[in-house]
Amino acid sequence: MERLKNKIRDIPDFPKPGIVFKDITPLVKDPATLRLTVHQLLHPFLGREITAVAGMEARGFIFGALVAWELGVPFVPLRKPGKLPYDVQSVSYDLEYGSAELQVHIDAVDENDKVLLIDDLLATGGTAKASCELIEKLGASVVACAFVVELDFLAGRQLLRDYEVHALVHF
Ligand code: PRP
Ligand code: ADE
Repeated sequence: MERLKNKIRDIPDFPKPGIVFKDITPLVKDPATLRLTVHQLLHPFLGREITAVAGMEARGFIFGALVAWELGVPFVPLRKPGKLPYDVQSVSYDLEYGSAELQVHIDAVDENDKVLLIDDLLATGGTAKASCELIEKLGASVVACAFVVELDFLAGRQLLRDYEVHALVHF
């Protein structure tokens, strides 16, 4: 995991003063490390029933789509408001640096689906908790949430205490 950690760059005071932004672009720029990351993300779920992978806009799309591709299951984009063209279900949530809303197409998953949620980073857990609620609003169940990075000091895992949570690297 040191190999992954070395490819995550700190950007101080982005997007607001006092926030140290964990930039995953050096990781996705390196194909071997990106491949290792995707395989580590999906490893706990090999042999388990996953019928769809959902990823949160925007960085969750990168890792989520690659995990879905590797598992051979559909990818479900969870998007910011006003981006999805068909009928949507919505949730609002708080962020480390503001508040936000996520939407999903109402026919993206149904009560037969067992969904793996993927995002690049777990901070306060607001995005992931809202994503779980969105999936559940459509009647599907959340198998687990898996992240590349977890910011331990923000205790997002506590907000997600009702869910199985995995993270590859911790700061
Ligand atoms: C970041 C990150 C997670 C979320 C984590 O996304 O990619 O989705 O914040 O924060 P939380 O655990 O406190 O909710 P952001 O909202 O910055 O959007 P982006 O991926 O489009 O940059
Ligand atoms: N999302 C929320 N907090 C973040 C951080 N510190 N770095 C990158 N993405 C984030």
